[in-house]
Amino acid sequence: PFSEAEVQSARGAWEKIYVDAEDNGTAVLVRMFTEHPDTKSYFTHFKGMDSAEEMKQSDQVRGHGKRVFTAINDMVQHLDNTEAFLGILNPLGQKHATQIKVDPKNFRIICDIILQLMEEKFGGDCKASFEKVTNEICTHLNNVYK
Ligand code: HEM
Repeated sequence: PFSEAEVQSARGAWEKIYVDAEDNGTAVLVRMFTEHPDTKSYFTHFKGMDSAEEMKQSDQVRGHGKRVFTAINDMVQHLDNTEAFLGILNPLGQKHATQIKVDPKNFRIICDIILQLMEEKFGGDCKASFEKVTNEICTHLNNVYK
């Protein structure tokens, strides 16, 4: 549960990075794939995954970056409504757990990269305002596996 003040500051932080959803979503994925190359194993159907330069140009990576950011954006619109928030997050978690079979340790990895990018681009306050959101996302995604 988020207080009114937390909802407002988390939304403000998210808006900054979501303005460029495709570019920033892509940057998050490219960093995940380069710093944690094992995460590429879930994307064997993506072409042009050999270098960061190629990945940045890839329509598949760009499309997926946009998709991930759109899903987070939907969650951010419902921080004040736990039922609606989980209504988005839980089905997504189910899909990752049963169909895609992502190792849940990777959720923390991608969330930390999002926070890192926020800090680099917009500063420590932006990151701090969004930490509770990524913590909620990671906790619930991990709970789906229990
Ligand atoms: C698919 C979001 C983390 C691997 C998806 C989709 C969304 C999404 C919205 C599309 C689902 C659909 O088509 O119904 C997220 C969010 C994450 C997250 C919000 C965490 C904040 C991860 C991680 C990995 C991963 C950590 C692997 C390291 C995949 C794969 C697909 C997928 C392989 C299918 C891609 C495709 O075939 O096009 N994810 N994801 N996801 N996700 Fe995630």
